[in-house]
Amino acid sequence: MQVFTSKRELRQYLDVVRQSGQTVGFVPTMGALHRGHLSLVETSQQSCDVHVMSIFVNPLQFGAGEDFEKYPRQLEEDLEKARAAGVDVVFTPDTNEMYETETHTTVHVSDLTERFEGEFRPGHFDGVTTVVAKLFNIVGPCRAFFGEKDFQQLVVVKKMVADLDIPVEVIGCPTLRESDGLAMSSRNVYLQPDERIAATVLHRTLRAGVALIEAGERDRTFIEEHMASIVAAEPLAHLEYVAIVDPETLASPEQLRSGTSVRLLIVAKVGTPRLLDNIGAEIN
Ligand code: PAJ
Repeated sequence: MQVFTSKRELRQYLDVVRQSGQTVGFVPTMGALHRGHLSLVETSQQSCDVHVMSIFVNPLQFGAGEDFEKYPRQLEEDLEKARAAGVDVVFTPDTNEMYETETHTTVHVSDLTERFEGEFRPGHFDGVTTVVAKLFNIVGPCRAFFGEKDFQQLVVVKKMVADLDIPVEVIGCPTLRESDGLAMSSRNVYLQPDERIAATVLHRTLRAGVALIEAGERDRTFIEEHMASIVAAEPLAHLEYVAIVDPETLASPEQLRSGTSVRLLIVAKVGTPRLLDNIGAEIN
């Protein structure tokens, strides 16, 4: 496995890879790798020849008072996991290398970024789209693999790629969960033992929402209120939002129409950590 901290050296290496006719698959991460991240590498292995992972805790996407400083950093362990998973190339620049010159350019996706995470974390998505656009330009992948775990991020990145004609195919991959349903996340390490148990409320709430839909309920507000009441019954959890949305536009339909699909989103604080989860549902 090759490890690069320099953009220029990474580009030179990958130019040779592409010239030899091999396709490049790309998994961007902020490290603190878990099986969710590694499942993206596995998906890359199904359709690409050379697998590149970036590990970079991007300051631009953290707001004031968020966890940028204490975000888990464990490069040696991550490199070991990446190697074992079959990653061929890791790109792990420091902040100076990534943002070499003072940045005057921001990639902003409108509308899709205004609600949900955009509302609770102002400026977050500008940080994400700007660094992802830079990473796409540095790595030049044929396909890039993102988790459905961060559903709004996936929708926003797909829109950026379509609007800017970036020559990469963005592939959404399913969320990996612990055996009790908790979505894997680098931030789960912040959970105290009692909070770790309480954190299953997110997945339970999503399942309850899907169960109502499967039982024929079509009133979005009613389902969202029912879901909110489940979180309210868990004293250690504090709901930020629950929403049922169109999976492409993220708009909220009043009534769920048969033949469509929806995405159920939930974000709650359990103790200090803010946990995100979501699930898809088909309306029959
Ligand atoms: P990070 O949170 O490290 O996540 C990297 C990728 O792993 C994202 O595409 C995320 O959706 C995916 N992922 C996280 N948990 C997952 C799970 N349980 N199952 C499947 N996939 C999962 O998302 C970011 O980093 C950053 O915003 C980034 C895109 C790297 C830009 O800085």
